[in-house]
Amino acid sequence: MPLSTIIAPMDLRAQILEWRLERKKIAFVPTMGALHMGHISLVEAARKQADRVVVSIFVNPMQFGPKEDFGNYPRMLAQDIAKLEAAGVDALFAPIAADIYPEGFQTFVSNNAINNILDGRSRPGHFDGVLTVVSKLFNLVQPDCAFFGKKDYQQLKVISNMVRDLSFPIEIVGCDTMREEDGLAMSSRNLRLTPAERQLAPKIYQGLSLIAEAYKAGERDFIKLTDLFKEELAQVQEFRLDSIDIRTQDRLAAFEGDGGVDKPAVALVAAHLGSVRLIDNLEFGAQ
Ligand code: PAJ
Repeated sequence: MPLSTIIAPMDLRAQILEWRLERKKIAFVPTMGALHMGHISLVEAARKQADRVVVSIFVNPMQFGPKEDFGNYPRMLAQDIAKLEAAGVDALFAPIAADIYPEGFQTFVSNNAINNILDGRSRPGHFDGVLTVVSKLFNLVQPDCAFFGKKDYQQLKVISNMVRDLSFPIEIVGCDTMREEDGLAMSSRNLRLTPAERQLAPKIYQGLSLIAEAYKAGERDFIKLTDLFKEELAQVQEFRLDSIDIRTQDRLAAFEGDGGVDKPAVALVAAHLGSVRLIDNLEFGAQ
């Protein structure tokens, strides 16, 4: 079946209704485009679990802060369509902003608990923007299951929590981070790195790997573990570290006291390289 590109929400509803009547299982992969193998890995996971796969491309203005890169975010719809077609996607939903945010838009989805920690702290309002658009997209696509990358670890958590808290009848599936050969996590924003910055960027993953290795060798002190990362990144003066945190995998809670890292953990990092803000994370510790 060829890929159909759908712009109007009404047309999307008609297509979804048709598939529902045929009792097809529908999977959904929301994206902001500039697609890479990370996105395609979500599509592949989705195809394994469902009869029909819908991908959305919408660069959501609500999740960008006033000083962030909404204007510069890479947009390349023609290439994206070719990639989705090759990956066997059934429908691309590429709405216009006026259909997502109609005149008078005033209702938001917000998470007070983890919205304001980690990345939510340095990007106020970001996760409210994500939750609001994802719940809109869920209502439009009405999928049985939806696929998100662990690359955006906190995003995966806030969305899973939203689905639980607001009873969306949707299974959320988290997928592993796809990396370039040198370890750099694939990201649409990598396109905005200069060639020199691109050479330096894998340092983030190297630093995260140091944490996991030190943990394996017996280090449990979260301060020492984060210091290892800081020292590694400090070797490259072009980086400006935004944050490095070690948290529990289940609730993103901080480790406290002398117990050290005594639960399955994840190290989460955000760092600026030139004009680009990169994020990455690595899970470690007993499962
Ligand atoms: P975007 O950054 O385009 O990412 C879309 C999906 O691809 C997210 O679930 C993200 O975690 C996943 N992804 C990105 N890079 C990945 C990688 N290297 N490996 C595996 N998965 C990866 O995340 C968003 O868009 C937006 O916030 C969105 C959820 C669409 C809401 O606007």
